[in-house]
Amino acid sequence: MAYTSPAVVIDNGSYTTKAGFAREDLPSLVFNSNYMVNPETQAVIVGDDALEANCQNEVMTLLDNGLIYNYDNIIHNWQYVYDNIDNHNPIDAKEYPLVLTEQSWNTPQNKVTTCQIVFESLEVPIFSLVKTPIAQLYRAGKSTGLVIDIGSSVTSVTPILDGIIQQKSSYHSKYAGDFLNLHVLNYLESKTPFNNLIPAQFAHASDSFKHYYASHNILQEYKNLSISYQIKSYQLYNHENINVQDQRNYLENLFDPTLNKLPNVTVPEPTLDKPGSHGLTNLVFLALKNLESSLLPSSNDTTSQNKFARFIEIFKELLSNVFITGGTASANGLPDHIINDLRALTQKYFPNYPFSYAVQQIRPNNTENSETWDRQFGAWLGACNLASMLNDHNEDSNSAKIALDNWFITKADYEELGEDLIVEKFK
Ligand SMILES: Nc1ncnc2c1ncn2[C@@H]1O[C@H](COP(=O)(O)OP(=O)(O)OP(=O)(O)O)[C@@H](O)[C@H]1O
Ligand SMILES: [Mg+2]
Repeated sequence: MAYTSPAVVIDNGSYTTKAGFAREDLPSLVFNSNYMVNPETQAVIVGDDALEANCQNEVMTLLDNGLIYNYDNIIHNWQYVYDNIDNHNPIDAKEYPLVLTEQSWNTPQNKVTTCQIVFESLEVPIFSLVKTPIAQLYRAGKSTGLVIDIGSSVTSVTPILDGIIQQKSSYHSKYAGDFLNLHVLNYLESKTPFNNLIPAQFAHASDSFKHYYASHNILQEYKNLSISYQIKSYQLYNHENINVQDQRNYLENLFDPTLNKLPNVTVPEPTLDKPGSHGLTNLVFLALKNLESSLLPSSNDTTSQNKFARFIEIFKELLSNVFITGGTASANGLPDHIINDLRALTQKYFPNYPFSYAVQQIRPNNTENSETWDRQFGAWLGACNLASMLNDHNEDSNSAKIALDNWFITKADYEELGEDLIVEKFK
């Protein structure tokens, strides 16, 4: 039984929400994931233009640590999608399958709350919660690989073996785009006062709006400019010019978060008991070390020969499928830096195994998108691939049935089986 309506696919990132119908090549809606509340009417305000038009209000967030935490207000973000996805003509949530993405560290309680909202308030007929790294890897047509996602509020390293996330060897940190923004802002503020960065029309905006505006406009423009070696100067709204530094200056902070001091921000020294305190290369190292110890046999294991051969095989496959994604990964040279570090790391720490030659970056299949779009929209595009299985009318391929059995929960099943089904299917 295949579905005829395309799924609505929403990837709620900390920076932007990407949304669109599964059949499209790129998300039709990309808007910031923040919102405001009008203090007089209590009306909730969503969308880039609406926030600018109400810039005196406080900007509030829906996600923290890559996860939705504000379940009282997330529905306004999703409703905004239903109201605008079809060329700004509202559609009825009851008529379309829905697919959302989630980070791999999402909690069972969050999954249950998400289902309550989508089935009980939005009344969607059928729903799936897809893990971001699985969706990303799926686009490269692989089921085994190491996914490195460098987004806005989080960087995550996720080993996936045969379509299964190795949860205990997956790590994430907050050293991603927002952290780089602190360094870029620190540089710009060494040249001119913060208020000079903001256009005059927002002079009376709330502080939270000004910071939101800076991160989505000024800091973003600066990051894009610093990609080019030709562009040496960045012109502010007040026509002041600021020297553009080589982006390696700020990217280095991802690899060594304590390298450059920030005013008013204490960055803890990395410690072994806190994986999230480490820079990017160490995070990958921790993931590999952990995976090694979970795969390698203990010495008194009688099947150790086989297990050892299997370990070598798995590591080779994993390292030859490194998938680097997320908006921050579009920074020039960043993926190469990661791959070079990974080669050096495997040579140094796994000298007895022939791994370093295996390290290889993979790219999505059959894509005409620019690399930047692929990276920024990778999770959304991958979730679309999975969602499209529902619409597969080819009797032989059985895709629709596989999708229904493995990925989706129908409203009827939810009503009958509730929490147990959610925890089992979206585990
Ligand atoms: N050319 C670029 N150079 C450096 N950073 C960039 C570039 N383009 C976009 N970014 C950064 O990418 C980040 C957004 O990435 P992405 O869309 O993957 O995040 P997200 O999915 O919304 O957030 P998260 O996954 O962290 O919850 C922002 O910090 C943005 O400034
Ligand atoms: Mg993301």
